[in-house]
Amino acid sequence: MAKVSFTLNGTPVSAEVPPTTTLLDWLREARGLTGTKEGCNEGDCGACTVMVTDVRGVRALNACILLVPQLQGAAVRTVEGLGAPDGTLHPVQQALIDHHGSQCGFCTPGIAVSLAVAHAQGRQDFDDILAGNLCRCTGYAPILRAAHAAAGAPVPAWVQDPPPARRPAGGAGGSQPPAGLPMGATASAPGAAFLPRDADDLARWYAAHPDATLIAGATDVGLWITKGLRDLAPVAFIAGLDDLRRIEETPDGLRLGACVTLAEAHAPLAARHPALGELIRRYGSEQVRAAATIGGNIANGSPIGDSPPPLIALGATLHLRHGDTRRALPLEEFFLDYGRQDRRPGEFVEAVTIPAQPDRLRVWKISKRFDQDISAVCGAFNITVEGGTVTAARIAFGGMAGTPKRARAVEAALIGRPWTAATVTAALPAFEADFTPLSDMRASAAYRMRTAQALLWRAFHADHGTPLFVLEVAP
Ligand SMILES: Cc1cc2nc3c(=O)[nH]c(=O)nc-3n(C[C@H](O)[C@H](O)[C@H](O)COP(=O)(O)OP(=O)(O)OC[C@H]3O[C@@H](n4cnc5c(N)ncnc54)[C@H](O)[C@@H]3O)c2cc1C
Ligand code: FES
Ligand code: FES
Repeated sequence: MAKVSFTLNGTPVSAEVPPTTTLLDWLREARGLTGTKEGCNEGDCGACTVMVTDVRGVRALNACILLVPQLQGAAVRTVEGLGAPDGTLHPVQQALIDHHGSQCGFCTPGIAVSLAVAHAQGRQDFDDILAGNLCRCTGYAPILRAAHAAAGAPVPAWVQDPPPARRPAGGAGGSQPPAGLPMGATASAPGAAFLPRDADDLARWYAAHPDATLIAGATDVGLWITKGLRDLAPVAFIAGLDDLRRIEETPDGLRLGACVTLAEAHAPLAARHPALGELIRRYGSEQVRAAATIGGNIANGSPIGDSPPPLIALGATLHLRHGDTRRALPLEEFFLDYGRQDRRPGEFVEAVTIPAQPDRLRVWKISKRFDQDISAVCGAFNITVEGGTVTAARIAFGGMAGTPKRARAVEAALIGRPWTAATVTAALPAFEADFTPLSDMRASAAYRMRTAQALLWRAFHADHGTPLFVLEVAP
């Protein structure tokens, strides 16, 4: 069992729960707070959105894939806590009523919380903010009208939870039990949860418990629990570790700690490589990006994870740590085979470094939906052209093999040749040497192959001043 303390709708609470208890189950079953709805139970629909305030500021998170121990020291607000104690509604709640932003009402608590978080953050990019809140019956026009109507209202004092007084450890939270102690059980006992104090503490503990499951944002692990019904203990909660959350400019380039979230990585990456910023904007949803970490997206080894292809194309280095031993390797070498990475038991991802370079990155995610969807194919191109000739090329794909993979034969077919349509045409067969994609529910093998080749054409046309945008149709 894990002992966890946080504030819930302004009131301090303590919970003693199995460490893989989701906040959604705890709210509804242990607290009777049934305003937070269960729709998909896998992070897709946003019906379970809650407001969490911690060292990362105020965020909208999906309670169905948020584990209670991740909340140590945080402030949580559910839809029941949006209104004032005297019954006055939050401005977004009032606006949803005034603008007819609800019909059956099932999505409404999640939408109200997402809009209240955006309101507290002073944001008005409502298309992005609501991309993870599905509404089946109202239609988004009234909801967006309500969002805009509420935007100018002051943030009510009653939803302004104070930032945590103490530094975080191991989760969304802001304070921790004494240094590196298990949360209420010995660290190796079945059902144990461990909150490391810092990366050193994690390194010691994980080397001693190599079979443990590390939990960062839980946007993958949460589904192992809610859909896979897996028993994961012992577990360590690492998302809040300060020394794994740093974003630093180093002599080798931009270093992102493993527990930097996709939301936190967005601004520094978009500033250096705008195409990567656009890709991250389409990564999951607001709630998913606010939780998912860059380290988790690499460590899970998924062949369709969105960050590996562009990071490989940029020549990123992965930093791994086991106990006091550290090593670094080119990111593409980390992915050995489907489900197999170059990471030994007890070793964890500490950071990833992206070398400084002129921006040449082009990356496109091809999926069935624009928002909140997993890639069928993700192609990343970093092609250097000097005097009309390709002098260097790093090209990587997701969705084309059992791992994210570099297209070395395609690169070889381009390097040293003029950057012309004839060179692209001649390079197309090289895709067959690099990749043997599979058919699955997202795309057929033939579609994947043709799409990957088409993305090379797209990179070529973009370089020649005819960029194509998926949301625009050229005459
Ligand atoms: C609704 C939804 C939409 C999604 N959309 C996308 C998408 O568009 N693109 C995409 O790429 N992914 C997407 N994902 C998948 C998921 O968000 C990512 O893979 C995410 O980056 C995982 O990070 P996390 O911090 O949540 O990892 P966790 O779930 O905490 O962990 C994932 C795995 O990595 C391990 N791990 C975590 N951190 C470390 C570390 N530092 N060292 C070693 N091992 C570690 C864990 O033990 C586990 O095996 C989506 C998921 C959901 C639920
Ligand atoms: S229930 Fe659908 S996102 Fe949580
Ligand atoms: S009001 Fe019915 S799903 Fe949105």
